[in-house]
Amino acid sequence: TVGKSTNIVWQECMVKKEERQKLLGQKGCVIWITGLSGSGKSTLACTLDHALLKRGNLSYIIDGDNLRHGLNNNLGFCAEDRTENIRRVGEVGKLFADAGVICIASVISPYRKDRDACRQLVPPGEFIEVHMNFPVSLCEERDPKGLYKLARAGKIKGFTGVDDPYEAPVNCEVVMQQINGRCPTPAEMACQLITYLEERKILG
Ligand code: PPS
Repeated sequence: TVGKSTNIVWQECMVKKEERQKLLGQKGCVIWITGLSGSGKSTLACTLDHALLKRGNLSYIIDGDNLRHGLNNNLGFCAEDRTENIRRVGEVGKLFADAGVICIASVISPYRKDRDACRQLVPPGEFIEVHMNFPVSLCEERDPKGLYKLARAGKIKGFTGVDDPYEAPVNCEVVMQQINGRCPTPAEMACQLITYLEERKILG
């Protein structure tokens, strides 16, 4: 669908996707990091971004918190706004992936249907959903921004994991979780993702 626009025609560009991939030595994709606040999404995104750069790859982070300072600054945290927020992040991710960039989206994206809609925007295999599957108790213990504290005190309403839902993925590509009671380090998780991308020939 094209929403409210009428009389618009899709413009085919001259540079083909394969040419771009060849030039960059990588395939564009969207690495979609979903999870609760404080689950380590942004830290993993930064670590992965850095590791990719060091490897000679082109990546870019689109972070929920940051996008809400600009493109999404008219949106709040009710279900409807979160859905629109995620739709826009998905569309931006699609553009980056099409440009051949490894786009790392770091957003809570609490609703399964919204994440699935973003998956549908890109060709099969180009959407890699990564679930930061750490218990809310752990995220709350970390509470890097003091937001859980505010939510528990009733100063933030509708905080994900406290009084707002988070629908965990059922069939995502990668799950990050504790092993024998120990959380993987950001470097270990980034390494796991790079191996995943190499195996799927996204990285040359
Ligand atoms: S969403 O649900 O995907 O639209 O959220 P997102 O764009 O990723 O933004 C999450 C960051 O917003 C801050 N914040 C909140 N999070 C959850 N619930 C409520 N009510 C809320 N209010 C503000 C918070 O800093 C989130 O950042 P992270 O990095 O997840 O901690």
